[in-house]
Parts: sequence; structure tokens; C-alpha cells
Amino acid sequence: MSKPTQQSSSSTGRVREHFREKAFSFDQLYDEEHALQRKLRPGLFERRELALAVAREYDAPSVLDVGGGSARVGELALEQGASRYVDVDLSDTMLELARARLERFGDRVELVQGDFLTTTVDGTFDVAFMLGYFDYIEDAPAHLRRVAELTTGSVVASFPRWTWTKGPIRKLRYQVINNCPIFDYTEDGLRRIFEDAGFRPQIRSGGSGFLVRAYRTPSA
Ligand SMILES: C[S@@+](CC[C@H](N)C(=O)[O-])C[C@H]1O[C@@H](n2cnc3c(N)ncnc32)[C@H](O)[C@@H]1O
Repeated sequence: MSKPTQQSSSSTGRVREHFREKAFSFDQLYDEEHALQRKLRPGLFERRELALAVAREYDAPSVLDVGGGSARVGELALEQGASRYVDVDLSDTMLELARARLERFGDRVELVQGDFLTTTVDGTFDVAFMLGYFDYIEDAPAHLRRVAELTTGSVVASFPRWTWTKGPIRKLRYQVINNCPIFDYTEDGLRRIFEDAGFRPQIRSGGSGFLVRAYRTPSA
């Protein structure tokens, strides 16, 4: 597993610590033995389905999974034929889970530990996933500009939206109890930052936030 190349901001450090501690419990959210999980977290499964559908549009795609965590989505992308899969994640414990999960795919897989903004990633990719990622990102435009440098095809990304029903509890749970910063987005704001970074976004608004499928615009 590659190691971090640079120091990160304190906000990023808090996110790293959060996902070091919570890797196992986050990974467990995908377990569908309890059909209840799908009902409780429809966004988790919806974003996974969109990401896999977009990857299937490409023949043996190369896939960059930004904050890919334990590679629950990556595993399925590889099963459906991805030729290269790179998971860049801050959290060593998340990447340990990914390593065990993806062992059977051999050298189609690269796991890179570090802050996506400052970590070296070789090559370019047909598709990039950024799922459950922007919740924790202080400077979303910078991360979109970075992914634009590495993507020739499409990005699939999810974003939380503030709602008065879930917002306050979410802020309390993450920022106060778990000391992990979180951020919210608006549809107009997303459209602007995607376009500025050189993407043509299609934005779907759902119960728990936004799902974006964005195409790289040529020579942006
Ligand atoms: C909620 S998890 C989502 C994991 C995976 N994308 C999924 O949907 O199953 C968010 C992940 O983003 C990672 N992350 C957050 N900020 C990051 C950054 N700046 N660079 C790389 N990874 C980051 C965290 O370590 C964590 O594993």
C-alpha cells in the first residue's frame, strides 16, 4: 500500500482519525442480511448502483475511487470487469479492509493511502467514484479540479444536503460527538463548481442529498 506524501490540514486530520476508528462499523453498513438497512440508508445503495451503471458504460474501464474506503463498491466494479481500480483513501484501517476484500483481483488493484488533494496518482481514468466523500471535504472545488486532472470520462459523486429533519442530528453526531467536520451542498452551488472544474453535471436530487453524474468537457 502506498503511503501519504504530504501533511494534511487539521480538518483532514480529524476526518482521517474518524475513519481510522470507524472503518469496521462503516463497512458493516453495506450488509444487506437485514433488509432494514436498505430502508434506513437508501442513499448508500442508490449511489452504489449509479456508480456501477456508469462503469458498465465503458469497456473494461479504469476506475479511480476517491475515498473508496473499504472498497465495497470497488469490489463490484472489479467483478463487472474494471481493468484497473485505484482506491485513494486517508484511512489505513479502511484500506486494510479493502486489501483483504480485493486480494483475489491481483495487480488490477492499487491501494493508495493519503489525502487525495496532495497524493500522487499515476495515469488517467475512464471513471471516478466520489461516494460518501464530499460530506467531509472542506474545499470541494479543489477536489473537483484535482479529479478533473485524472479523469477522461465520467465522475459519479454524492453530496449531502441540509435538511431540518436530519441536519441538526447529523451535525451533533459528527462534529460534536465524533469531532469530525461535515459539509452541506446546494444544487446551484454544485452546478457551478462542477462546471468551473471542467465537467458537465447531471444532478439528481434525492431524500438524503444529491447524486451527480458528470461528464468531462473536452479541453476545459
Ligand atoms: C463515508 S466513507 C465512503 C467510502 C466509500 N466511498 C463508500 O461509499 O463505501 C468516506 C471515505 O472518504 C475518505 N476520505 C475523506 N477525506 C479524504 C481525503 N481528503 N482524501 C482521501 N480520502 C478521504 C475517508 O477516509 C473514508 O474512507
